[in-house]
Amino acid sequence: ATYDTVITGGTVANACATFKADVGIKDGQIAALGLGLGDAQHVIDARGKYVLPGGIETHCHIAQESSMGMMTADDYFTGSVSAAFGGNTTIVPFAAQQRGQTIPEVLQTYDDRAAPKSVLDYSYHLIVTDPTEVALKKDLPAAFARGITSFKVFMTYDKMIVSDEKFLDILVMARENGGLTMVHAENNAMIKWMVGRLLERGYDAPKYHAVSHPAAAEVEAVRRGIALASFVEAPLLFVHISTDAGARAIAEARMDGRMIFGETCPQYMFLTADDLDRPGVEGAKFCCSPPLRDVQTQTDMWRHLNAGSLQLYSSDHAPYRFDKSGKLSTGDTPPFKTIANGLPGIELRAPLLFSEGVQTGRITLEQFVALTASNAARLFGMGHRKGAIAIGYDADIAIWDPEKTTQVTAAGMHDNMDYTPFEGWELNGWPVTVINQGRIIVDGGELKAKAGDGSFIPRKPFDPTGFLPPRAPEMAQATNFGAKLF
Ligand code: URP
Ligand code: ZN
Ligand code: ZN
Ligand code: ZN
Repeated sequence: ATYDTVITGGTVANACATFKADVGIKDGQIAALGLGLGDAQHVIDARGKYVLPGGIETHCHIAQESSMGMMTADDYFTGSVSAAFGGNTTIVPFAAQQRGQTIPEVLQTYDDRAAPKSVLDYSYHLIVTDPTEVALKKDLPAAFARGITSFKVFMTYDKMIVSDEKFLDILVMARENGGLTMVHAENNAMIKWMVGRLLERGYDAPKYHAVSHPAAAEVEAVRRGIALASFVEAPLLFVHISTDAGARAIAEARMDGRMIFGETCPQYMFLTADDLDRPGVEGAKFCCSPPLRDVQTQTDMWRHLNAGSLQLYSSDHAPYRFDKSGKLSTGDTPPFKTIANGLPGIELRAPLLFSEGVQTGRITLEQFVALTASNAARLFGMGHRKGAIAIGYDADIAIWDPEKTTQVTAAGMHDNMDYTPFEGWELNGWPVTVINQGRIIVDGGELKAKAGDGSFIPRKPFDPTGFLPPRAPEMAQATNFGAKLF
């Protein structure tokens, strides 16, 4: 047969266009697009369905210890399976450095965790908490060279925080070596000060977690991060943006030609801090950082995705069960300060955006593709092979049935969690068949892939094309009296 698989009769959508075409797959790649393609070993009837690039989930915590040392409930099997059922074909979780660990040790640890278990393609972002001389001069450039071209740092949490001075070193190192710095931007002092005041006065219920991480703490850190990155003309990606003012600061920096990027997450668009005020300690299920905000923020985030101020929409899947192994590790009435941070949601990320965005007319199908796949592919160095239905690209495809309605329940999810923050939601549209490099990994509600079937995807360096430096390099040197500083 000419093709291994042909998907017939569907509507194909990329970030730039929607069209009717059959898709021919050969040797794991898209080999042809057209009508009336030749014979195939396997034909998938996609009449009435959308044939979209597989989702690329670039913010999730899988088989990762938190800063408190708590392991996530999902490993690379359950995490990748849950991602697959939600229409994803590539995940980029974090490989987190614990202080004292070297970068090569961290990467070895995560290679061992991911390779035998992931059912779909994967890479990692490093989390850097110990930016030693060796890490900055040798280990991080070496990680970039083996295709791990992005990493996250924290402006908050005593165990993770990098000083502004170190942050400058990190930004320059990344720029010079083709890395992309990601940052968790919240002001550490403002949070600690609020936590102190709250606890002193006896406010320790889960809902006060939201109070302890004020919007102003995010806004301050975003503005400072932009100032630092702009000063050294380095790219910087702000993850999990949860405030209008934070997103506006990013939009303004982008209009100034800065290499600044932003991400938001479903929880800020579909939940609010009121969820933290549920009876008893139910609110613990909704503790994440930055915290859930309000109804106004929800509409603000839709606007920022539409305007392009924020380019990424990721789950920030950080699964801690509602039991002793997770949210209730410090007892049945845990003070907010001791509750593991994070919400599960890798499986629902794309279905939520499809149901509440595409089906309601808030965004176009093309924007959906951009936000769930294409933008992440480009930003993270995979745009040459992933994020589009195009000839020569990896055959990473999610076939969506816009008519399929799903009632969300924790039991219906494929992660290793015992709750979902979206219990009871009714979603319109679901990815019914998911294909990764030509392999059907999910079909008709069944897993078709095995642990270890996914491949590590080496990623290209960050590409600054299209960003015009605000000053010519000679000008920058002139203001330094010719001294070469960064
Ligand atoms: O609360 C969250 N999001 N926990 C995960 C860690 C992080 O900062 O993204
Ligand atoms: Zn079939
Ligand atoms: Zn974070
Ligand atoms: Zn996260």
